[in-house]
Amino acid sequence: MYNVVMSDLKMEDVVSLCKRRGFIYQGSEVYGGLSGTWDYGPLGVVLKRNIMNLWWKMFVEDREDMYGVDAAILMNQKVWQASGHVDTFVDPLCEDIETKKRYRTDHILKDNGIDPTGMTMAQMDEAITENNILSPEKNKLSQSRTFNMMFTTHVGPVADENSVSYLRPETAQGIFTNFKNVVDSFYPDLPFGIAQQGKAFRNEISPRDFVFRSREFEQMEIEYFIDPEHWEDLFEQWRQNIYEWFEVLGLPKECIHELEVPEQDRAHYSKRTIDFEFDFPHGRDELLGMAYRTDFDLNNIQRDSKKSMEYTIKGTNTKFIPHVIEPSFGVERALMAVLSAAYREDEQNGERRTYLALPEHLAPYKFCVSPLLKNKPELVEKAREVYLDLKKKYRNITWDDNGNIGKRYRRQDEIGTPNCIVIDFDTLEDDTVTVRDRDTTKQTRVKIENLIKYDE
Ligand code: GAP
Repeated sequence: MYNVVMSDLKMEDVVSLCKRRGFIYQGSEVYGGLSGTWDYGPLGVVLKRNIMNLWWKMFVEDREDMYGVDAAILMNQKVWQASGHVDTFVDPLCEDIETKKRYRTDHILKDNGIDPTGMTMAQMDEAITENNILSPEKNKLSQSRTFNMMFTTHVGPVADENSVSYLRPETAQGIFTNFKNVVDSFYPDLPFGIAQQGKAFRNEISPRDFVFRSREFEQMEIEYFIDPEHWEDLFEQWRQNIYEWFEVLGLPKECIHELEVPEQDRAHYSKRTIDFEFDFPHGRDELLGMAYRTDFDLNNIQRDSKKSMEYTIKGTNTKFIPHVIEPSFGVERALMAVLSAAYREDEQNGERRTYLALPEHLAPYKFCVSPLLKNKPELVEKAREVYLDLKKKYRNITWDDNGNIGKRYRRQDEIGTPNCIVIDFDTLEDDTVTVRDRDTTKQTRVKIENLIKYDE
């Protein structure tokens, strides 16, 4: 008996399972792919939505201080000028002087065992020279320059400087620009939050590590508007909320690490940032971030739009621009962490088995229903009855009558289905079925009428 532990898990194993079993495919694969883009298959889309819906339930529906929005991806270019993204949303880029291939300078250093944390671009270049670091093709590297990661486009038929727009690099700005609208419609007491989920786009210099660093991805962000006097307490509360999130995702505590981001590495808007890192198959890396964004964004909006972003405390004349705590979650990174934490290999009856020990509330299918034999109409008919009944309650259940029972179990194990229900000849006599547990492989006989109860 052996078990793949997370420290032994290889990225290739996760990538290969995802492709084989219909979770994630390379974007535009049929045309040779488009770097940094990924398509979600039938199981990937369910897993991703389960994660996003869980987040929405936990951070919006279950709370009394949260409001949801869904803002447009394309926004007025002034948004990105005011937010500082046009000037400062940059990464350091260097070039292989022979092949002209481009790399992120901090990634080159990391790959050569040098921690670039806190280094300026000039210091990174110095480190490259001093350590004789070459490109992955073993050629000299150029000096670094900055590269803006926003995708530019034009809105409307005329492509000039006035029609420039950007694919949003963060969902946060769609929240800030609606702050005043939400206050005017609902007038919530401070502190309160506005949440948004949706696509974000970054022209990453070197997308890598599967979906971890993509050019198109999804974020789930909260801007929590506060009186600055209480920022430290509220920051701490959000830190705790984030650990509750890790728990519902089923992520082992020992694989999560906090990184207090030093000032020189923080985003231009942040006074304090904690990166929550996870032990991914490619190494320890950022899963999500939490920043104290102060009143940076609302102040900029007020300055550039000439509209007041002040908030008046109810029943008083006290007015101020609220400060913000921002927990910012990446969906793909959450999904990759969930898959990595759930990936297992063991041995069953002398055969190696791969399975995903996904938490039940995240698994793409809750149940798989099968007739023991496909060529016995009475078993198939009974199995269809059970399947359709369960499908009414849980939409995400599946039917499988291909191959023998052993093969069906292996298939369901690999996609993380927690329970397989088999209808056999005894079912026709006593209305009981076999329920087989994914993790223990233990089989239990259960009355059909108790199946729903069995699950509860
Ligand atoms: N509004 C703040 C913000 O966008 P960020 O640290 O740049 O902060 C937040 O991004 C989260 O978005 C990250 O912690 C990560 O989970 C996710 N993310 C950022 N860039 C990504 C990329 N290229 N691919 C996948 N996820 C990404």
